[in-house]
Amino acid sequence: MSRITPQPGIMDIELYVGGKATVEGVSDVVKLSSNENPYGCSDAAKAVHAKSGHNLHRYPSTDHSDLRVVIGEVHGLDASRIICGAGSDEILQFITQCYAGVGDEVVYTEHGFSMYPILARMVGAKPVKVAERERVVDVDAILAACTKKTKIVFIANPANPTGTMVGGNEMARLADSLPDGCILVQDGAYAEFVDGFDGGASLIESRDNVVMTRTFSKIYGLGGLRIGWGYGPQAMIDVLNRVRQPFNLSTVQLSVAEAAMRDQAFVAKCRADNARMRAWLAEALAELGVPSDTSCANFILARFVDQAEAEACDDYLKSQGLLVRRVTGYGLPNCLRITVGDEASCRRVAHAVGQFKGGAR
Ligand SMILES: Cc1ncc(COP(=O)(O)O)c(C=O)c1O
Repeated sequence: MSRITPQPGIMDIELYVGGKATVEGVSDVVKLSSNENPYGCSDAAKAVHAKSGHNLHRYPSTDHSDLRVVIGEVHGLDASRIICGAGSDEILQFITQCYAGVGDEVVYTEHGFSMYPILARMVGAKPVKVAERERVVDVDAILAACTKKTKIVFIANPANPTGTMVGGNEMARLADSLPDGCILVQDGAYAEFVDGFDGGASLIESRDNVVMTRTFSKIYGLGGLRIGWGYGPQAMIDVLNRVRQPFNLSTVQLSVAEAAMRDQAFVAKCRADNARMRAWLAEALAELGVPSDTSCANFILARFVDQAEAEACDDYLKSQGLLVRRVTGYGLPNCLRITVGDEASCRRVAHAVGQFKGGAR
């Protein structure tokens, strides 16, 4: 027998399954399975990317100060309390690595983002799944599940894959009622899709146990480049920076993210277009007998009669070149998560679901 064994928890990790991008035998494919921006990214970001080749021999800055300053200006935040990473996933990993370990508990919710239990296991902690109420995070249930061993509570707000939100007062109540030494992580991957929402930044100002993560992968349309950031109390950011590798972001990532952050007109346009098409798609599906909760993000969680119908519809959509996401692994076997695409894609989805419901399968 081999004496080479991984750390506790590692072999319990189920590999993350990403959204599909191709369908064999179908050429005109629309990918609506990973909540990407259907409009791509800002032209200003593309222009910076096109010019970024001439400096590739240089190491990037280690402290990301230019990008942090721009993020701080745009969001009205203290740049010294911002940390940048390779996607918000990396910030979530820093938080878990620094604050949870063997014997600790990490709380997430019934339909919570699948990276949370993976991160808990990565550090040998126990992931504790808490029930939601009708696909909405239940603060009282979370508080009831917390023990002295609970070190982190992860909540995506808006949530993926449900698209629902917890209000600011509830989040504040949760933060203030957590056991001593437990951190509330507000995952704001979809925060920009909510008009006027600060991702929970205001909760952080007066507390030492709340942190927020954000990403360039969704509304900024830069998922392929891998850039995210976090904001928290100074003491916590100082801790996270100790495990961050000095060159975790490349010169290209940093310069493109800076240009993208400066182009808030692009962000505002994407937010408005998403809201318009999301409302249209939700209504079109509801008229076809496929209801959904009001979504605050860039996807809709479409509810079917049962798992068999959801899977049959997914197969039919696939045959039509429309890739959406099955969410059985999220405890939602009768649902499909459909990213809100551009108008043409939304019309294709509604048309195909209509054909499916009309018996075209
Ligand atoms: C809720 C949530 N958090 C975090 C992420 C990670 O995003 P990234 O690492 O691309 O910033 C995602 C991506 O789908 C997400 O849905």
